[in-house]
Amino acid sequence: MQVNPIQPSFAAAVSGIDLARPTNADVVNEIWRAIDRYSVLVFHDQNLTDQQLKDFSAQFGPLEIGRSAARGGKRRLALPEIGDISNLDIEGNVRELDDRRRLDSLGNRLWHTDASYMPVPVVLGMLHAKALPPPSPFGNGETEFADMRAAYDELSDTMKASIADLIVEHDVFWSRGQIGFTKFEPGEREQYPPSPQRLVRTHPGSKRKTLYLSAHASHVVGWPVADGRLLLLDLNTHATQPQFVYSHKWREGDLVIWDNRCTMHRGRPHDEMQPRDLRRATTLDVGSTLEEAA
Ligand code: OGA
Ligand code: MN
Repeated sequence: MQVNPIQPSFAAAVSGIDLARPTNADVVNEIWRAIDRYSVLVFHDQNLTDQQLKDFSAQFGPLEIGRSAARGGKRRLALPEIGDISNLDIEGNVRELDDRRRLDSLGNRLWHTDASYMPVPVVLGMLHAKALPPPSPFGNGETEFADMRAAYDELSDTMKASIADLIVEHDVFWSRGQIGFTKFEPGEREQYPPSPQRLVRTHPGSKRKTLYLSAHASHVVGWPVADGRLLLLDLNTHATQPQFVYSHKWREGDLVIWDNRCTMHRGRPHDEMQPRDLRRATTLDVGSTLEEAA
């Protein structure tokens, strides 16, 4: 297995490994070391069934069942641990523009870290490209990643001191509300109440400090909502400057792994009439960020 940095300290391409074949603990540890260093790993030319993606990802932690699979009812994909990151309906047809599932998923176009609205959030995202839209005037459907450890390092010392102990409320209704999506299924508000999270976390594998920001981040606990929201806007603007960003241009067969604890990501626009089919496995963290040492 070779790890080649794409940018000096953020994002690396990994070659010389077929993830469809069973891996052992040494390989898993080697991949963890690369994740801890580069935050985002790109594996080209993988060809994984959903079961193989599940088996590979489960070696990194217990797997999340996402909001969409947790709803129950008929799904396009059989395994609840595999998230359907596509614009396709259960028959495999491209969803209509006003389709509720499609509109909900457009929240992914905002800079975010996955599931930060959960009391115990997630760690690794693993996204595998099955079918991609051709380049179009609307865009090419890249996924961008931003380095929250580098963004933290570049804050002023006074800013670091003033945000060190802040707790932020994360709420999926807030992130969806920003794009005007408010038509949640009955009961979802109760099922996904807001969760408090540390704004500054220490990334366990590197001991580096990192900003835990997300489109779900609504306001600072104990502050007037407006002040907290403005601080979060400033931090988001800072943390998503081009020098912190890696833009992934997808090829079919790519598997991209990212660490949700120290990155944000967002999808970019593409031709909505063309199928885009990615599958995601996500590992769960072990506790609330509030239990972590500052
Ligand atoms: C995700 C996500 C963006 C994209 O799968 O968590 O945000 O480009 N995806 O599909
Ligand atoms: Mn996401």
